[in-house]
Amino acid sequence: MDSTTESHVHTTLPPGANPDWTIAQDWARFSDDEHAVWDRLFARQVNMLPGRACDAFLRGIDVLRLERPGIPDFVLLNERLMAATGWSVVAVPGLVPDDVFFEHLANRRFVSGNFIRRADQLDYLQEPDVFHDVFGHVPMLADPVFADYMQAYGKGGLRSLNFGALHKLARLYWYTVEFGLVREHGALRIYGAGIVSSYGESIFALDDPSPNRIGFDLERLMRTDYRIDDFQQNYFVIDSFDQLLRATLDTDFAPLYARLEQKTDIAIANIVDGDNVLTHGTQAYAHGGLE
Ligand code: PHE
Ligand code: FE
Repeated sequence: MDSTTESHVHTTLPPGANPDWTIAQDWARFSDDEHAVWDRLFARQVNMLPGRACDAFLRGIDVLRLERPGIPDFVLLNERLMAATGWSVVAVPGLVPDDVFFEHLANRRFVSGNFIRRADQLDYLQEPDVFHDVFGHVPMLADPVFADYMQAYGKGGLRSLNFGALHKLARLYWYTVEFGLVREHGALRIYGAGIVSSYGESIFALDDPSPNRIGFDLERLMRTDYRIDDFQQNYFVIDSFDQLLRATLDTDFAPLYARLEQKTDIAIANIVDGDNVLTHGTQAYAHGGLE
């Protein structure tokens, strides 16, 4: 998940962590029961995602050999990921400060929680665990274009801190990296980690009539708040990962942040003039009326 949206961020370096907040994964420490939780979650998602997850995600599962049973050993995972795109996964003790998170992304390192949810928490969890972080995020990092997007986001994140604009930039992460949809083969497909790692939202995001599905528009997206406590009421749909990379890399966010300061936010479920509405959700307007 996004380190910036959660309340349980450590503020001082936990004992035993390296100065960059990483810790050893210590893969041998996971119990058989913990590996079995991974296997249950993995089987449930992988059976449902063909035809739902985008090609790049499914390719990533394959390239990284994630179908090997048990929680992935980062040493083996990183051999494959490094060969694909030069990214690696590093373990951290929990949510890390924003600048630490961005610094890792800017250097093509993805930070992962070093625990797995309990067997009675398969469907809901507040803090990102290794299933969300690795199954949800890492397959997309094996895609060269998405890999570049994530690094650019890390650099942009560091830069946003100088403008006090992180709360706006965090929306981009939320609506793309976590909850993004992409148009592929004439249909909608999932690429967001928060969706692909959730059984319920993998169905809801594509099939439910209640949320809005809106064509990606950077400024519109960054005016839109989001909810962290339920399935989303808006999904933003990109046409390709190239579109996403170009729209964000080629935009200087300094004037964009300044412009956003002058504009009001758009209430979560609202549709506004200029939206490319792909699905007008049945919940639209429910939280604040027409803009
Ligand atoms: N181009 C952005 C800036 O000027 C940085 C950025 C790139 C942000 C890609 C997100 C994704 O700050
Ligand atoms: Fe995440």
